[in-house]
Amino acid sequence: MTELHRWLGPWLASLALVGCSEASPAGKSDNTAGTDGGTPTTASGEESTASTGSGGSATTAAGANGTNASSTGGATGSSNGASTGATGQAASTAGMATTSGDSTSGDSTSGDSTSGDSTSGDTTTGGGGRPSYATLREAAAAANRLIGAAVDAAALAGAGTQYSETLAREFDYVTPENATKWGPLAPTSSSYDWQGADAIVDFAEGHQEVVKGHTFVWHEQTPSWVSTSMSASELNAALKSHIETTLARYRGRMRAWDVVNEAVDVNTASGYRESVFYQVLGPGYIADAFRWARAADPDVLLFYNEIGAERLGAKSDFMYTMIQELLDAGVPIDGVGLQSHVSTHRYPSESDLRANIRRFADLGLRVNISEVDARTKNVPGTQEARWLMERIAFQQVVGSCVVEPGCEAITFWGVTDSYSWLNEESEEDPLLFDRSYMRKPAYAGALDGFMGLLPVRGANLVANSDFAGGATGWEATTGELTVAAAEGESGNAACVNGRTDVGDGLLQSGLLEALQAGGPLAFSAMLRVDAPSSVEAALLIVEGGEESEFNIASRAIAQDQWLELSGYLGLGFEQAPSAIALKLYGPASGVELCATRVQLQPLTVD
Ligand code: XIL
Repeated sequence: MTELHRWLGPWLASLALVGCSEASPAGKSDNTAGTDGGTPTTASGEESTASTGSGGSATTAAGANGTNASSTGGATGSSNGASTGATGQAASTAGMATTSGDSTSGDSTSGDSTSGDSTSGDTTTGGGGRPSYATLREAAAAANRLIGAAVDAAALAGAGTQYSETLAREFDYVTPENATKWGPLAPTSSSYDWQGADAIVDFAEGHQEVVKGHTFVWHEQTPSWVSTSMSASELNAALKSHIETTLARYRGRMRAWDVVNEAVDVNTASGYRESVFYQVLGPGYIADAFRWARAADPDVLLFYNEIGAERLGAKSDFMYTMIQELLDAGVPIDGVGLQSHVSTHRYPSESDLRANIRRFADLGLRVNISEVDARTKNVPGTQEARWLMERIAFQQVVGSCVVEPGCEAITFWGVTDSYSWLNEESEEDPLLFDRSYMRKPAYAGALDGFMGLLPVRGANLVANSDFAGGATGWEATTGELTVAAAEGESGNAACVNGRTDVGDGLLQSGLLEALQAGGPLAFSAMLRVDAPSSVEAALLIVEGGEESEFNIASRAIAQDQWLELSGYLGLGFEQAPSAIALKLYGPASGVELCATRVQLQPLTVD
């Protein structure tokens, strides 16, 4: 049996396609087919070909200190106002682990003196003439960005000082993780419980931190008295009153609010999530909520926040079009939040994330990366290997925000691994500080990101990636492979004609040696088809005698246009693999699939 035939069996059997999510809080493994931020999606076929928003990058949204500085209290502008960027910033300490000059140094976060252990080997600070920062706050300020954390009211109120000291030292932007959601705020239709929210806002003000309220409208954590048994006028009145009451209480004390959260679900016929709001009010609730909020507090920044919309594709395209239409209709939206709950197993590429940030910024919006955390445990391997992947993922997210002028803030969805919503499913380690409040390698990744340093891509592991050597190293699983000058692109491309199944396409086997050590990788390829369809990239892995398919990226593709399909991934193995191949496929049988510049590059830390 040829190598090719060995692949065909599992491949044809697995046409359901294994999709891996950026965030699958509902499942322990991100191998759950196509979950996307907890929202079931299909791995393919969902993506549209709407604008990918290339173009100008200069916007005025960056800087975090826009028009609302004066209305949101003195803290808004102060932490980020005066910086001139990372370069030229004087080294403030000898190393990032040192907190000298920090008012909380010498405290129980004595990880400061030892955290060099967990981050040693990184080159963030100290050498090479690079600036070094004692805290994330300092690094973020130098980059003219806000650095945020979701704050758990119970942890803040709890015994011990590590949580509050770390929050005060490292962050200047706070999002109540749950305390300002409708359900926790309004347990009954006639009462409010402000305690948790007040404590967080008081703390933030006491530590020169600005606050983003989160969130007026969400399909989860809505009070139990809000239901589909309400009439449209009852629900409208309740929502309007909630927005007005809450904005009145915190007027002048919040920088921003997430007005609507997670309204998109591309698996429904309409593309909107069928929440109680959608069911009772239709999609008009989104515009109404923003308008009521603006009328109630003209000075606070109003955000739309979404999960699983970081990558270019169906969900982010739907969100983009929705926001564009709302803006065209005069709806007062100041910014968008891209949550960025990721998994180191598979997450959006730098190029996707940056293009996505840019297209929203080009609408005149502020962009926040609003809820960053990373599952690491679905990649087998040592903690050291997993935490290196996490470091690289965080460096990529922070760095992408820093190099895109329209991105003003990065918020992590928690402070320490001890308090993360992901632990509700199974113990994870998704944040910057470990359970002893020690700085993890991820912290060094964030610091690097604030200096505008993105993960480094190493040599391409794909042989003959641009087909300069003809078809060498490649085969077509069915049909005929032809190499010729790429139509509309430079250099050569390989095209497969006469494919007999969506699972058929281009295959490069023989990647075992290059990939057997696993690790963090960047994938990209330029693809073209002669009929609108979707395209996929996957690794075929034989491990312990079992063949499996690791879906790297899926995207809808228009006819006769080159499209960059890309994604980052983390590879790890339970047992030593015995074969690894890369395949590009996806269109219906008969559709021509062409490819060039196929890249699989190790991601490393500079
Ligand atoms: C989560 C909280 O972290 C959990 O404590 C809570 O049980 C559920 O909600 N997207 C959001 C956040 O916008 O509000 C969610 O927060 C995580 C996903």
